[in-house]
Amino acid sequence: MTISDPSARSSRVPGYLDGRAVLDQPLLVPEPAADAAEAPAGSLAWLRATVARFTGDAQAHARRRAHAMVQLARLDPRELRWAAAGSAVGADDRHTVVRILADQLGLPDPEAVADAVLTVSAGYFCGDLTPAQVKAADEAVASLLTRTARKDSAEDLEAAAQGIGLLVQACDATARLVEHARRATPDGLPPGDTDALLAEVLRQDPPVTALRRRALADVRVGGLDLRAGEVVVIDVIAAGSDVSAGGDQSDSDPGTDPATLAFGSGPHRCPGQAQALALATGLLERDNPARQVTEAVARVLDLAATWTAWDGRPLAVDDRVYTPHKAIRRVADHLVDHLAELEARLAGREPQPDHWHASATTTPADLAPFTPEDLDEARSRLVRLGRVWADRLGALSDAQLDRSPGAGWSFRLLAAHVAGSLDYYAGAVGRLGAADLEEQV
Ligand code: HEM
Repeated sequence: MTISDPSARSSRVPGYLDGRAVLDQPLLVPEPAADAAEAPAGSLAWLRATVARFTGDAQAHARRRAHAMVQLARLDPRELRWAAAGSAVGADDRHTVVRILADQLGLPDPEAVADAVLTVSAGYFCGDLTPAQVKAADEAVASLLTRTARKDSAEDLEAAAQGIGLLVQACDATARLVEHARRATPDGLPPGDTDALLAEVLRQDPPVTALRRRALADVRVGGLDLRAGEVVVIDVIAAGSDVSAGGDQSDSDPGTDPATLAFGSGPHRCPGQAQALALATGLLERDNPARQVTEAVARVLDLAATWTAWDGRPLAVDDRVYTPHKAIRRVADHLVDHLAELEARLAGREPQPDHWHASATTTPADLAPFTPEDLDEARSRLVRLGRVWADRLGALSDAQLDRSPGAGWSFRLLAAHVAGSLDYYAGAVGRLGAADLEEQV
């Protein structure tokens, strides 16, 4: 390498807009990994050369990213959040993240998948591995491939690599986001707004701090003149504080936090943002299952406060219909049902058999108008039920929450399930106002 070799030069990009311009410019691509043709299929080098993440060629990248998107479409953020909120404490968060993703993807033996992904992730981003580490990573990639590839065609192998890549991409970054959020709140989570906390952590203390690009040709981008081969490094932390200092946020993607490059931008922008935030939220909620339930009750009552505006037409959701009274009935019955299960199991008894008609039936009482008096009664009922739950869960040790007596889910998972179901029932009616009433049947 000579001193005039452009690959020897690298520029640092601290600004949000310049950083975004670099990431959006198709002539600036991730630094390529070794040629896939030179690496034996199933090795770490092969994985790096085959995943979308390090693919610079636009056509190959689009094809590979499309494979990753197919897998991602199977990962419902709501399910991921519940699974994370109900997962046992004490395990490495990286392991938990990957185990949950593998489970939701239907991969055999999610525990073994998580073990292998942790081994791979150690060498996925950095090339400085000892021969023993390379051997372990190669074996882990090969074992993952046997679990994910259906056939032996080149296309299936390429698709399988994207599935593995997705798990590796999720592993460290998601766990680091949780770690940084805990670091930002040493006295425990502030009540309510985990979304706002995560958005702030992503801006100020992001899990991925630098993104690199190499110029395929001479190119001018933002305030930078780059020569072919030159490398630019985007400083994600500096870009976050640049925006807080008044950067232009007007062109950011709708529905995403504008103040950060934490999930990248452009063709390689992280496609797993919704899944990452859901997992991180669940892992933070897991620390306090009692609060999961009381906060879910508070969210129900927040929505229910708008239900006196209901015009009497049931709302169709999935294959059921809902009304305000029915949603409140289901919320209360769900709290009672699982509390009875928990108490029975603690007492060493079999829970009552399930004879609920639940959402399958809509009773005449469900169809009644929802009055301010009904709202008041619901508030008194549900707040008390939430407190009974919280007091019971608060009195249990982590061991009882995670290795709970009797058959069935752990009590921590039960709490996460109850909280998620409460959101579901209340969300079925939603926040009623003029615009929301248009969806009614
Ligand atoms: C807090 C957690 C996460 C952060 C901060 C994060 C961040 C990022 C960033 C910055 C990139 C772009 C890299 C670049 O442009 O060079 C990226 C790419 C990617 N991420 Fe994430 N990620 C997270 C979690 C996840 C999760 C949970 C998944 C999947 C379930 C995922 C899947 C991917 C994939 C497949 C790519 C490669 C996309 C491509 O190159 O086209 N990430 N991520």
